[in-house]
Amino acid sequence: MEELLQVALPKGRLGKKVYGMFESAGFSCSGVMDDTRKLIFENEDTGICFFWVKPSDVAIYVERGAADIGVVGKDILMEYKPEIFELLDLNVGKCKMVVAGKKDFRDKTDRTLRVATKFTNVAKDYYGKQCRDIDIIKLNGSIELAPILDLSDVIVDLVETGTTLKENDLEPLETVAPVSARLVANRSAFQFKNEKIEKIISGLRRQI
Ligand code: PRP
Repeated sequence: MEELLQVALPKGRLGKKVYGMFESAGFSCSGVMDDTRKLIFENEDTGICFFWVKPSDVAIYVERGAADIGVVGKDILMEYKPEIFELLDLNVGKCKMVVAGKKDFRDKTDRTLRVATKFTNVAKDYYGKQCRDIDIIKLNGSIELAPILDLSDVIVDLVETGTTLKENDLEPLETVAPVSARLVANRSAFQFKNEKIEKIISGLRRQI
């Protein structure tokens, strides 16, 4: 019996959409979409084992080889720079990494800029390239509060519809990078399970 290909899917709305793409590509697996607490699903016929992981953990599973392939946001790849192969832009989960602040915010370049974010490495890279001195304030959520309460001058965060910024009287000031979901692979799995992975790539490519 051939070894199953281990596929890490990001739990949540994006994961469901992505699993739908696998299904349409001919890699379905019963139970994956059931509303249960079960995390791991095997299909001997297609030779694939799917499991649900926290979106920000997908790259860890893939990098360490617990998953052969997975789907992860470009934001996570930019932040953690895992040593994995990025194979395909799935063109879903599209949003933007932006710098945002209060509408009347004007940067005073002689002062250190206070930046609140979950994405500390992305922010450091972005401002590093501009040789801009920043003070990073690492937060874990509700980032939009930071400029309102004067915890920071700006935030670096993801914007999808723009509703969160708008409802908090903030606006995007600069675009850092476009973000979308990417198919990724463990480096050695890509070599040793190449045939199967290539089949998945071409199946998914047809769904884009
Ligand atoms: C994300 C992001 C923004 C929001 C953007 O937060 O950090 O806050 O979504 O979406 P929008 O432009 O469509 O309003 P998430 O919901 O993941 O929660 P968090 O604030 O706790 O990170």
